[in-house]
Order: sequence, then C-alpha cells, then structure tokens
Amino acid sequence: MKFFVDTADVDAIRELHELGMVDGVTTNPSLIMKSGRDIKEVTAEICAMVPGPVSAETVALDAEGMIAEGRELAKIADNITIKVPLTWAGLQACKVLTGEGRMVNVTLCFSANQALLAAKAGATFISPFVGRLDDLNIDGMDLIAEIRQIYDNYDFSTEILTASIRSANHMKEAALIGADVATAPPNVIKAMANHVLTDKGLDAFMADWAKTGQSIV
Ligand code: E4P
Repeated sequence: MKFFVDTADVDAIRELHELGMVDGVTTNPSLIMKSGRDIKEVTAEICAMVPGPVSAETVALDAEGMIAEGRELAKIADNITIKVPLTWAGLQACKVLTGEGRMVNVTLCFSANQALLAAKAGATFISPFVGRLDDLNIDGMDLIAEIRQIYDNYDFSTEILTASIRSANHMKEAALIGADVATAPPNVIKAMANHVLTDKGLDAFMADWAKTGQSIV
C-alpha cells in the first residue's frame, strides 16, 4: 500500500520523506488554509521534494471552472494530481482533464456508486473518506471493501486512495482490504510505530543493561 501524507506542512512532509515513508501528498483547501501559505508556492515546494503524485484541489463548483483551475494547477509541476469533488460537475471535469493526460483525484466520495462513476469517468484516484463516515456511526472501512470488490470485478484501474484517516488502525484496515493508497496526517503515520509492549520491553532492557555497567561505544 502506498503512503500519501495528508498535509501542506512542508517540514512534516520532509521528516517522513527522509525516512522513505512518502509516496505522494494530498492537500485540500482546509489544509492550505492551515499552512498559512500561498497554494501555488507551497504546492511547488512539495512537488520539488516528493516525486510522487501531489494532489492540489480545485475550488470552482462548475465543470468549466474546475477544468480551468485544474489546468492552472497542473502548470506547477509534472507530478500534480488535480483534485475535483465527486459532484456531476466534478465527474465532467475529471473526464476532460484525464483525457488531456492529467492525473485526477476525485475526492469527497462517500458511496460505492460514487466510486463507480468516478472510475467510469477515468479517475486516476478515488478518495473515499472513512473518518467522516465513522463520525456518523457508519463503518468507513465497509466502503473501502465495497469499492475494492467493484473495481476488482471489472478491472478498473482507478486507485483506491483511502482518505480521512484518523488512526493507525485505519491504516492497518485499509492495507488488509487492499486499498492501493492511504493518505494520513503525519501524526497518524508516526503513531503506527507505537506499541505499549515495545515501550515496556525497552524499559526492562534499559534497566537490566544499566546493571551490567557496560557500554557498547
Ligand atoms: C483527503 O484527500 C482529504 O484531504 C483528507 O483525508 C480529509 O480528512 P479529514 O476528514 O480528516 O478532514
């Protein structure tokens, strides 16, 4: 499973990138707002650091506007993925932009039918939001499993990009289902390294090591 980082925080991306944990990046208008940076400037910086797909989201609500914004965002770098919402207009924009050979990430997906339409429209990535479904007491991972089955049934090449990930457990579940990609905030990716028994075991080893009076270097 590929790891995308869901942030526009360049320092946080760099830390994970240096460890080989970043296959791509996703941003959205809220994350750009949080960064306090200019969208083109910060996105260009991210694209120069990470060779994989970097999603930059359009904000127009009509297809023509999305297409114009998508073309503009695509000028930033070759690895830009244009992010459009899963509306009818978004699907129209997806069809046009992918027809021009551009990568498109269709976002704000909350149903298998929406994902089916995105695949038919030629989306490069579909972004189902699991955390926001969980917030409504609907199991977001059920949606990932449904989309996996539908895409496999018909050999769609659209990649399932599990989004709105809130926990390390979400990462494990996405990987078990066979999602192609998971995008998560940096703290969630780092939390995957944590285990209480690792901490406990390390404490015990350190205590015993101190008793030996030895040093390795
Ligand atoms: C994905 O592309 C979105 O930017 C993101 O995963 C949304 O996550 P949230 O529901 O935690 O805001």
